[in-house]
Amino acid sequence: MAYYIGVDIGTSGTKTVLFTAEGKTVASAAEEYPLYQPQNGYAEQEPADWWRAVRQTISEVVESSGVDNREIKGIGLSGQMHGLVMLDQDGNVLRRSIIWCDQRTSEECEEISRKVGRDRLIAVTANPALTGFTASKILWVRNHEPEIYARCAKILLPKDYIRYMLTGEYATEVSDASGMQLLDVPGRCWSREILDKLSIDPALLGRVYESPEVTGRVTRQAAALTGLAEGTVVVGGAGDNAAAAVGTGTVEDGRAFTTIGTSGVVYAHSSKLAIDPLGRVHTFCCAVPGAWHVMGVTQGAGLSLKWFRDMACSEEKAQAERLNVDPYVVMDSEASQSPIGSNRLLYLPYLMGERTPHLDPNARGVFFGLSAMHARSDLIRSVMEGVAFSLNDCREVITGMGIRADDMTACGGGGRSPLWRQMLADIFNCPVKTSNSKEGPALGVAILAMVGAGEYASVEEACHAILGIDRIQQPVPGNHERYLPYYQLYCELYPALQKEYASLAALN
Ligand code: XUL
Repeated sequence: MAYYIGVDIGTSGTKTVLFTAEGKTVASAAEEYPLYQPQNGYAEQEPADWWRAVRQTISEVVESSGVDNREIKGIGLSGQMHGLVMLDQDGNVLRRSIIWCDQRTSEECEEISRKVGRDRLIAVTANPALTGFTASKILWVRNHEPEIYARCAKILLPKDYIRYMLTGEYATEVSDASGMQLLDVPGRCWSREILDKLSIDPALLGRVYESPEVTGRVTRQAAALTGLAEGTVVVGGAGDNAAAAVGTGTVEDGRAFTTIGTSGVVYAHSSKLAIDPLGRVHTFCCAVPGAWHVMGVTQGAGLSLKWFRDMACSEEKAQAERLNVDPYVVMDSEASQSPIGSNRLLYLPYLMGERTPHLDPNARGVFFGLSAMHARSDLIRSVMEGVAFSLNDCREVITGMGIRADDMTACGGGGRSPLWRQMLADIFNCPVKTSNSKEGPALGVAILAMVGAGEYASVEEACHAILGIDRIQQPVPGNHERYLPYYQLYCELYPALQKEYASLAALN
């Protein structure tokens, strides 16, 4: 038998899954770790926490499955994109990773736009300068911690740091590298021009592969720490969204998915390069060699509901414990008691600034229309509706670029909520499917490992062989029209507050 491992190094934790070559789950394990927010708008994690979680979860799946480790033919890595990991010349981590949702780099974004030119930056990297992307984080360290920058010998993304720990190789792959803002996205290679203009030494970066390519093999030392066999193949893998695309079969034109994880994403595959000249959505290389994807991002999607759960839902948590279910299940059923529009309450999910369609690190969350009559059920529902409205903003920009996104799959933690899926179907006004596998990005990168190890000839072939549909949620007749006035009002709120957000950010 041949087995494959997919590792997903997420923001709240790492999930590792062992699959058969037919994509059936054999064993899975997860480990959480903290997110550090030393200041408003800052977000950091400890690479050592990721590595500990990866070691533990790999050991756990290998051990609990009872599979002979020599039968594990390949590993794929996925994870949160954009995070900056800096290593010294001996491979030691120099500082905590500044991760994707950190918003401290507005000035560095201006520096990038000034040095490269906004239009040229969009033409080469397919995106405007973004606080979330890696390039501005690199410049921030150079500007604010020059002594650390001076000692930096290698720059890696989160999952690529794990690759380094597993294989000793400094490498990345096109999908994740697209989010560094240093890649020539049309050409699928590092951009000499951007690196020169930003005075970043190309030697700091790892080698770029296509996602299913073999990038290295597990070292003896990593084998001893994980229970893997020395020499096990590690393929490029993919950033979490490109990986989820493979895991849901979103690998052909017309296919799209919406995921609600910490962030929320609407993602559409595109065999042709398409770039939004306004920079409201990202164009990245995808994990299918030679193809791209366009995606819009809601910074605070699942994060909004998690924040609300932890701030205000201790009763729901207690009830969930009594019922032995997840607190979100209790919150879901409470929210379904509130009507469409949450009794005239709107929520803007900008807790961590926003990307699509507003690109504003200063934006912050809002409850609009609070009244003494509102109950917690209304607040929970309005958080869910606000996130769904924001995802609809993403979808509208994508379809406005002429990219089809009508074959829609829902995934991520939020995609497990029947109420949230129904909101998406009603607000998008299209059927929303769920995939027969719940493993998303972990399955996606295991599939890439299968292709890299020669089990399947292509990503598309593997997806056709392995994936199927679980169920389809149809829009409820009339609901789209009922949501519409709320969505329209939601769209008016950000422009009305934009100036005040900047004033708020300027306060001490
Ligand atoms: C994508 C993005 C997030 C992170 C964290 O651009 O920032 O999806 O990858 O999940």
